[in-house]
Amino acid sequence: MLYPLLRPLLFSLKAETAHNLAIRSTALFSRMPPLTKFLHHFTRTHHPFTFAGLTFPNRVGLAGGMDKNGVAPAAWWACGFGFVELGTVTPRPQNGNDQPRMWRDVPRRALFNRMGFNNDGADVVAARLAMLKFRPPFPIGISIGKNKDTPNERAEDDYAEAGEKLAPHADFVTINVSSPNTVGLRALQTAEAMAKLVSAVRTVIGGKPLLVKFAPELTGDELKAVLDACLTAGAVGVIATNTKAATSPTGLPCGESGRPIQDLSRQRVEEIRKHVGGGVLLIGVGGIEDEKSAARMVDAGADLIQVYSALVYEGPFLPARLARGLKRRAVNTSPDRR
Ligand SMILES: Cc1cc2nc3c(=O)[nH]c(=O)nc-3n(C[C@H](O)[C@H](O)[C@H](O)COP(=O)(O)O)c2cc1C
Repeated sequence: MLYPLLRPLLFSLKAETAHNLAIRSTALFSRMPPLTKFLHHFTRTHHPFTFAGLTFPNRVGLAGGMDKNGVAPAAWWACGFGFVELGTVTPRPQNGNDQPRMWRDVPRRALFNRMGFNNDGADVVAARLAMLKFRPPFPIGISIGKNKDTPNERAEDDYAEAGEKLAPHADFVTINVSSPNTVGLRALQTAEAMAKLVSAVRTVIGGKPLLVKFAPELTGDELKAVLDACLTAGAVGVIATNTKAATSPTGLPCGESGRPIQDLSRQRVEEIRKHVGGGVLLIGVGGIEDEKSAARMVDAGADLIQVYSALVYEGPFLPARLARGLKRRAVNTSPDRR
């Protein structure tokens, strides 16, 4: 009820300024365990899903890129999320692309971004998570990437270094090879490159579940070959999808997210589920904004869903709404559905 009042104020600021303000506030809130626990009483949804030894209290997670530096895990839990994916974190800190690099497209309920993996680096994020006063009781995933100045031929080294440093603080690890904002990164979405990457990371993360996140444009035989390579090399889950490649208002390459990619992301989820069958964790993300779009993603084959852009438009109580909607629907439809 409060967000419709707050939103015009946030939207009067540049997108990245509003984002930074929101992240600073959630980080501050996250350092107040009694308050986060209090709020959690009103937002929690018990609709558990278990996979690879992890129990997700409900089906709705925060997508990668919102909390790149792992500053606010308890605040996300307090908002009603059932899990969070922190990052993407690279081995060394980096500033990302020049600003402006984030824009809202309000009529289309979309975002454009060309952030470029701006983050504090693996050492700082690992130390921050090691020092958490209160670790919220839900799975914390960490997304890893490569630094901009590391050539693709040495990508394995970067992913392995970030994975090794961050895995002790993560419940699962995600390999992100699908951001359109690091030049050449998506070229790693081949069977050959992914077989090497997944093996390299798997050996250093001490048995933590390993997921891979793909672009919405990866489809057909290419997608199948990459999926087979990842699963054979030991990945247990897939996140679909990252942003769609687009052109920013400043005429530069960027990623588009939100409502315009809803159908595309859901089609990828459907395609992936058809190919991999059951037993593989599939997280659907892209344009989910209400109970209906969340339900359609689950119907397409997603076990869990994530949101980013719609949080900007709908506010911090969206996850609780979505989680309750999915639970209500599961209860009302078939009793033997997960
Ligand atoms: C500003 C911004 C930054 C993002 N950064 C990351 C990132 O660092 N790692 C990642 O895996 N995905 C990142 N994403 C992609 C989201 O996790 C998500 O896959 C995508 O936005 C589609 O979901 P949505 O339509 O709910 O936003 C970012 C998205 C936005 C809008």
